Amino acid sequence: MPTSPASQYATDRNLRARQRLWERQDPAFDVVAWTLELAGISQGVRVLDVGCGNGRYLEAMGSLGAEAVGCDLSLGMLNAGTGRAVAAADATALPFRAGQFDVVLAAHMLYHVADRTAAALEFRRVLVDGGRCVAVANGAGHLASLRAAVQDAAAPFQPGWSWVDRLGEVFSLENGRDQLSVAFHAVRCVRPDMAGRAVVTDPDVIARYVASVGDIYGQELAGSWDRLVEEVRAKATEVIIREGSFVVEGDVGAFVCS
Ligand SMILES: C[S@@+](CC[C@H](N)C(=O)[O-])C[C@H]1O[C@@H](n2cnc3c(N)ncnc32)[C@H](O)[C@@H]1O
Repeated sequence: MPTSPASQYATDRNLRARQRLWERQDPAFDVVAWTLELAGISQGVRVLDVGCGNGRYLEAMGSLGAEAVGCDLSLGMLNAGTGRAVAAADATALPFRAGQFDVVLAAHMLYHVADRTAAALEFRRVLVDGGRCVAVANGAGHLASLRAAVQDAAAPFQPGWSWVDRLGEVFSLENGRDQLSVAFHAVRCVRPDMAGRAVVTDPDVIARYVASVGDIYGQELAGSWDRLVEEVRAKATEVIIREGSFVVEGDVGAFVCS
């Protein structure tokens, strides 16, 4: 099961669809601000943002006055970014000198990396002595209600199928600690005091989220992923009409490594 088909990040369309889900949360939770505080980002701190995607973290770090550089495997993602300092690079072979950064950030990206030991060792290598790596990931409770809705929608044409989190099987808040410990002495898993919940009032937001992972999960279905997306859209619409919103649980945290 390829968890990183090339199509997934050819542009930032899929990532944007998923970012949109979390725009309105109750309680409010800003994963970027939370992560940057955890990482101790401030004026002049030298940061490498590995797998920077369309640059959400880079933008915020720029506003804080950090000296942030981003790198990503996908040129399509880099082109979609904000034009801040970026390089096309693989997490397992970083084109940077040893000890060049105070902080390495790896947000929602390690589950796409096949050789996570190599990546963790590269993160360690480019950090100064005493530097810190912060790896953001999801936990087992992430998207619980959305997973249930997707499974319900699939049941009539794919009985017994469950939407297993293939990315979480690779790297999650539950299984990431040991993987990072190959490169770091101290690895601490931190969750926010209060987990965010997306409160969605537009069924299109739900439908687009599910569509955005079709190239990862579509081959598990005998039927088409597009059909599933439309079934989910219909179910989300029913919930929104009945309850006023479709609520999706977030379970996001980070490993702080030194
Ligand atoms: C889910 S996105 C996260 C983007 C960004 N960190 C964020 O949280 O908004 C994952 C990113 O990791 C990148 N990526 C995947 N494998 C990579 C690798 N081996 N090295 C560098 N970047 C990689 C993808 O191209 C994509 O931009």
